[in-house]
Amino acid sequence: MAKNSTSTTQTPEISPRHTRFRLIVRPSPIHRWGVYAEEVIPKGRKVIEYTGERISRRETARRAGRTLNYLFTLDSYWTIDGGVGGSGAEFINHSCTPNCYAWIQKGHILYMAARDILPGEELTVDYRFDPDVPKVPCGCGSTGCRGTINLLKQPKRRKS
Ligand SMILES: C[S@@+](CC[C@H](N)C(=O)[O-])C[C@H]1O[C@@H](n2cnc3c(N)ncnc32)[C@H](O)[C@@H]1O
Ligand SMILES: [Zn+2]
Repeated sequence: MAKNSTSTTQTPEISPRHTRFRLIVRPSPIHRWGVYAEEVIPKGRKVIEYTGERISRRETARRAGRTLNYLFTLDSYWTIDGGVGGSGAEFINHSCTPNCYAWIQKGHILYMAARDILPGEELTVDYRFDPDVPKVPCGCGSTGCRGTINLLKQPKRRKS
């Protein structure tokens, strides 16, 4: 079985090549597997790079139909599929009040610490799914939860 398998029968792993911190994949109250800090991660530090196969728009459309996918949109053409050669960052769940954010630099997706993260905390990012794609109910459980992984549509501003 592949190291970062999407199966629940074997614990997926973090690739130490893509992070300087001790991280671990464990079952999550948010959804299936999640990624946890095993040491303090100071605010502003690079937590882990989101790696995987770089695929075209057409291939993305084909793979997006899978029930569970690990696709991260890089730009208007390219997507990274963390399900193939992923660093383990693909197991980071969504939260509406996340402790990490994605920073795209020279074609690389870097997850950065939005605040100091303590040992034992689950790492999370805001997936910011498009408001026009089918809504995915959010299970982040945070007090600021907007109820869905998707961004909410902003009401149209009326011209004065
Ligand atoms: C890339 S996977 C994240 C890793 C996943 N937990 C796993 O074990 O494979 C992304 C999917 O996880 C689920 N997910 C992540 N965060 C979630 C949340 N806050 N609420 C509900 N589902 C979530 C959604 O199905 C989403 O499409
Ligand atoms: Zn939420």
